Amino acid sequence: MPDLYFGAAADATEAEKAAIDEAIAGWGPVTVRVSERLVHAGLTRARERRHLLLPALHALQRAAGWISPGGLDHACRVLEVPPAEGYGVATFYHLFTHEPPVATDTVHVCDDVACRLVGAIDLIDDLRAEGHHVKASPCLGQCERGPAIMVQRTGRSDVTVAAVDGGPVTPSEVAVAVGSGASTPSVTVPQAGDPGLRLLSRIGVVDPTSLEDYRTHGGYLALDASVAMGGDRVIAEVTTAGLSGRGGAAFPTGI
Ligand code: FES
Repeated sequence: MPDLYFGAAADATEAEKAAIDEAIAGWGPVTVRVSERLVHAGLTRARERRHLLLPALHALQRAAGWISPGGLDHACRVLEVPPAEGYGVATFYHLFTHEPPVATDTVHVCDDVACRLVGAIDLIDDLRAEGHHVKASPCLGQCERGPAIMVQRTGRSDVTVAAVDGGPVTPSEVAVAVGSGASTPSVTVPQAGDPGLRLLSRIGVVDPTSLEDYRTHGGYLALDASVAMGGDRVIAEVTTAGLSGRGGAAFPTGI
């Protein structure tokens, strides 16, 4: 059984409970009382359902517009996850909100390194000026199409808005996407073939299933050079270059 309780001031609403219960419906709650004498429960059932915490939290966020304390309590109760752990998961991810929603739609704009370089900060200002509820977000995984936008909508499917023609997304394109509920279609790397590409220069050129093809197009040359340089010089080069963000969190790569 959970070891800590929030003592949520308000229980989950029926809509919140329904959303969470639907998200785990394929497995059902850990504890099922079939009759007074027959109860299915136990550690094995709890372990088997552990992976459902995130889907349950996503369902709660979508239904209620936030991770309400009562909703989180309910998710932890039906999955028998200690609320301290549930709270840790819910507060780790940026896309979960912990205050009652101030708008039906929240426009998340990535202001991480790649998107910042192509106008994310100006776009955030423009969207706010047009009345959108905007949150600056860490990387949304659309780095090649920045500034990346994801509109989180209460009670409806989220919408992804991304640049497709090389130019940044405009506030009016965001408004159209929110109104229509249609995400920008998925595309391959839009800069494929651009001679200015460095890291992605082999996109669409090399057969990704062939190491030989990769080598033919210069693959592993940097590795050979690094081995020849030795560890200390490689670390010095990377540190001097100021490279950051290779792990997605913009930490310095060379230390
Ligand atoms: S840096 Fe913006 S989506 Fe990755």
